[in-house]
Amino acid sequence: MKIVVLNQNDMKRVFSMEEAIQADKDALELYSLGKSVIPLRVNIDVPKHEGQSLYMPGYVANANALGVKIISVYPKNIEKGLVGVPATMVLKNSETGEVCSLMDGTCLTQIRTGAVSGAAMDLLARKDSKVFALFGTGGQAKTQLEAILTVRPIEIVKVFDINMERAENFASRMTEAFGEKFDVKIITAKSSAEAIEDADIITSVTTTKTPAFDGRLVKRGCHINGVGSYTPEMHELDEYIITHADKVYVDTRDGVLNESGDLIIPINKGIYSGDKITGELGEVIAGKAPGRANDDEITIFKTTGSAVLDLVTAQRIYESAIEKGIGSIIEF
Ligand SMILES: NC(=O)c1ccc[n+]([C@@H]2O[C@H](COP(=O)([O-])OP(=O)(O)OC[C@H]3O[C@@H](n4cnc5c(N)ncnc54)[C@H](O)[C@@H]3O)[C@@H](O)[C@H]2O)c1
Repeated sequence: MKIVVLNQNDMKRVFSMEEAIQADKDALELYSLGKSVIPLRVNIDVPKHEGQSLYMPGYVANANALGVKIISVYPKNIEKGLVGVPATMVLKNSETGEVCSLMDGTCLTQIRTGAVSGAAMDLLARKDSKVFALFGTGGQAKTQLEAILTVRPIEIVKVFDINMERAENFASRMTEAFGEKFDVKIITAKSSAEAIEDADIITSVTTTKTPAFDGRLVKRGCHINGVGSYTPEMHELDEYIITHADKVYVDTRDGVLNESGDLIIPINKGIYSGDKITGELGEVIAGKAPGRANDDEITIFKTTGSAVLDLVTAQRIYESAIEKGIGSIIEF
């Protein structure tokens, strides 16, 4: 048995953001058409070490994608100088059932999560979007930015983080990485209101429990990606914007309605309901739900993530690595 091991450098060398966006679109379409097997995530507590071990398995026949993403949440790792949320993707050959690849699961999550916002913006944001506001400058922020720059001709990016130093640092690193390539100016905003002033697209990728910005200040025609909230207590998009947006899309109804405070909180207050969701993004791709109707609508895409995104993206990365002869091989 041969296993191809891919680290983050290998993964980035063999796979572009455009390819990742296409992989996520295909994954969500197959999911929404009922063509994937995605069991519930298995969570095992490891109280002795204050940790949690999570397993996200799945199978997507049409994409030949079979495997499991293994994640640990070990907050005390930080004190030891280790990653707090380490992740590894284990991919199997769907024909033989043998493990065929191991790859950096943290890098995979960053790629597929940036790409899913990229897919949403490609489908839903106004074509002439020029001003982009980014909330949160942590581990997920770079691929969120890369995805936007890949699908729309953005001229100005305004980043906001409650940690101003981190925001400044991020803006200068991103200017170096993307400034010239995409001909874009990346600056920091001093307040959340300043960040969303004139924004055509807003992405929020924070760990906040109180809304990141005031929905009343969002300009008409704006598209918003809500990426951060994945527990019922995490409230990133405020109730005003959820209840006043013209269209609300999700990656999976199941995930968002069971996990994200962005929708659960207004639903529990009786001011919103799950059947007001316009559709899953996969339904838009499959032509089963409407997209943006005009340049005036405010659209929202809320994602909590799904193993279907990991599986299809990982399989495509693996196929590309094989084709290009990249990665280390373990035989046993
Ligand atoms: N939807 C998905 O598929 C998906 C995938 C991966 C991660 N996530 C979630 O996205 C969130 C961000 O992930 P990360 O790895 O970048 O986290 P991180 O901890 O590295 O960074 C979060 C950043 O948000 C900032 N922040 C917190 N509250 C803020 C606020 N009100 N306004 C502006 N900035 C604020 C923090 O200062 C920090 O810089 C997490 O909640 C994570 O679980 C979602």
